[in-house]
Amino acid sequence: MRYAAQKGTKDILPQDIYRWHKAERTFADVCHSYGYEEIRIPTFEQTDLFQRGVGDTTDVVQKEMYTFDDKGGRSVTLRPEGTAGVCRSFIENGMTSLPSPVRMFYNITAFRYENVQKGRMREFHQFGLEAFGSEGPEIDAEIISLLTVFFEKMGVKHTKLCINSIGCPTCRAQYNAILKDYFRPHMDELCDDCKARFDKNPLRMIDCKVEGCKKYAADAPRLIDYLCEDCNNHFETLKKELENLGIEYTIDPGIVRGLDYYTRTVFEFVSENVGTQGTICGGGRYDGLIESLGGSKVPGIGFAMGAERFLMECEAQEIAFDKPDHVKVYFADLCPEAKPVISKACLDLRKAGIGCERDLTGRSFKAQMKYANKAGIPYLIVIGEDEISNGKVNVKNMADGSSEEILINGITDYFGNK
Ligand code: HAM
Repeated sequence: MRYAAQKGTKDILPQDIYRWHKAERTFADVCHSYGYEEIRIPTFEQTDLFQRGVGDTTDVVQKEMYTFDDKGGRSVTLRPEGTAGVCRSFIENGMTSLPSPVRMFYNITAFRYENVQKGRMREFHQFGLEAFGSEGPEIDAEIISLLTVFFEKMGVKHTKLCINSIGCPTCRAQYNAILKDYFRPHMDELCDDCKARFDKNPLRMIDCKVEGCKKYAADAPRLIDYLCEDCNNHFETLKKELENLGIEYTIDPGIVRGLDYYTRTVFEFVSENVGTQGTICGGGRYDGLIESLGGSKVPGIGFAMGAERFLMECEAQEIAFDKPDHVKVYFADLCPEAKPVISKACLDLRKAGIGCERDLTGRSFKAQMKYANKAGIPYLIVIGEDEISNGKVNVKNMADGSSEEILINGITDYFGNK
């Protein structure tokens, strides 16, 4: 029996992890600089949280969730995204009483039973954040600027920012009626999901992936043309603030996002390098979500970036990632007596935070040298009878072949100063 990773899942191997670490650390650093602290939420939640939070007319809830009954008969779901869980935590942990805005970022795995293709997995990673308690458009612009700073620090260029406003319940009610008038004559040609959406949530019809529905969705009236005065002012101020920050944007009235909780601002960073949908990152405002999950009336906004898609974009843009030298020095032994000396030297170095390796598999001296070379370890120290009796070793720089004689007792100091 040979086991293979499940369809739509992927190992991240040790030789690739440095790229992930760089992105994760940079994201965390940038979030910290904007006042966000990390939150870690559970991998699974009560199913109802997503049905209510993400919305039971969305593809995510209707078709893509990993839902099962646990042994206690409770219906639980592997999180398909992070927002609902963070909101649940915000309410459950009484964060409403904290000074606003409450700002949290996360780095999570998420699970969606999707048709697997380039940039679309069944288990994937998201870097995301959520901010609670601020209604004005300044924070919308601020989190978009946070993303531009992250891209800049990672060296990523040319991603395109698309923004839209999908209004509030007031403008949405008027728009839903207009949308229904538009779709009504075509009902026979629409898919069953859209027929159900017509009554429950017509806005979702704009986002339908079925070919036969897409052509009608493309010509449908746009919500942005029916915004109420408050939503319109909100969007105008957001645009001004983005201009003030020197952030280029395109207004794309077709962005409705695939999750039901959004109100007003929605945005996406897109690129043609990351698969058919092209979205690296998506987010927006959700001013009614906390209340609909049983909390008080607290506005929210956030985004999530697909980490796999982001790294795919980095690769397409040929961004260089420096591979860190975690192991600085290799100790090769020439005789059995050298082994305890090397063990002790390694312990001292590691206590000082300096990475080192030695032979642990009984290799010959020649094989040890071959290993050190292949592993690309920058320094080599050979210890045999002479070195033990002199109390001195040669440190060989593998890059230029030069070497320096130092005391065995001085190895930690030597590397500590490098
Ligand atoms: P989303 O647009 O569903 O939004 O997902 C955000 C990002 O996750 C996408 O832009 C994409 O890069 C990545 N992603 C989604 N599905 C997959 C997949 N199957 N395979 C690989 N990557 C994927 C949300 O999840 C919202 N919670 C974002 C948000 C936070 N809005 C407000 N706060």
